Amino acid sequence: MDLIEAIISRRAVRDYTAQAVDERTIRRLIDAAVHAPSAVNQQPWTFTVVRDQSVLDRISRDAKSHMLATMPASRHSDRFRSLLDDPNFHIFYHAPVLILISAIAQGPWIVEDCALAAENMMLAAYAAGLGTCWIGFAQSFLNTSDGKNVLDLPAAWVPVAPIIVGHPKAAPPPVARNEPVLRWVG
Ligand SMILES: Cc1cc2nc3c(=O)[nH]c(=O)nc-3n(C[C@H](O)[C@H](O)[C@H](O)COP(=O)(O)O)c2cc1C
Repeated sequence: MDLIEAIISRRAVRDYTAQAVDERTIRRLIDAAVHAPSAVNQQPWTFTVVRDQSVLDRISRDAKSHMLATMPASRHSDRFRSLLDDPNFHIFYHAPVLILISAIAQGPWIVEDCALAAENMMLAAYAAGLGTCWIGFAQSFLNTSDGKNVLDLPAAWVPVAPIIVGHPKAAPPPVARNEPVLRWVG
């Protein structure tokens, strides 16, 4: 697949078939992720692959409660609150796999590094016919000691990018982009 086509056509997928994603494919996506650039080539990322649906159900439930208890007011908070209050809303959309990218090391650019790895992974998944979505709703809970305990993550790790992966039920429609704010200097 052409790179620009992949960049432009990739969409956040929120509806998956029950089909599993095989281990070889998961390893290929992680290989794409680790080819991202990182500050001083620190490669601070780690990958936690979660396929146990009962674990994903538990994180979804606990992350929703955590968000409802801690979410600051914002222009999205009413919409988020009603979503998070809905017992039928599953933050991982019942996707077969979650790949959590966490930073193992400290440093001023660990979040940027992990986000670059996440985008590589999402593009590689799209090129392989898979869907992905970054699940920000999981992030703050996974950064608590309770969240880390659910996945047995070391206390020092910093969960950055929870990415769900699966076979899309359908191709999501295009999502409009704003005109970029653009200034030329020189
Ligand atoms: C940091 C980040 C957090 C996100 N969190 C969520 C989330 O919790 N739930 C969700 O359904 N989508 C989430 N998304 C997906 C965005 O809503 C989506 O990327 C955006 O609407 C643009 O759509 P597109 O990815 O199809 O271009 C997140 C995306 C990013 C980059």
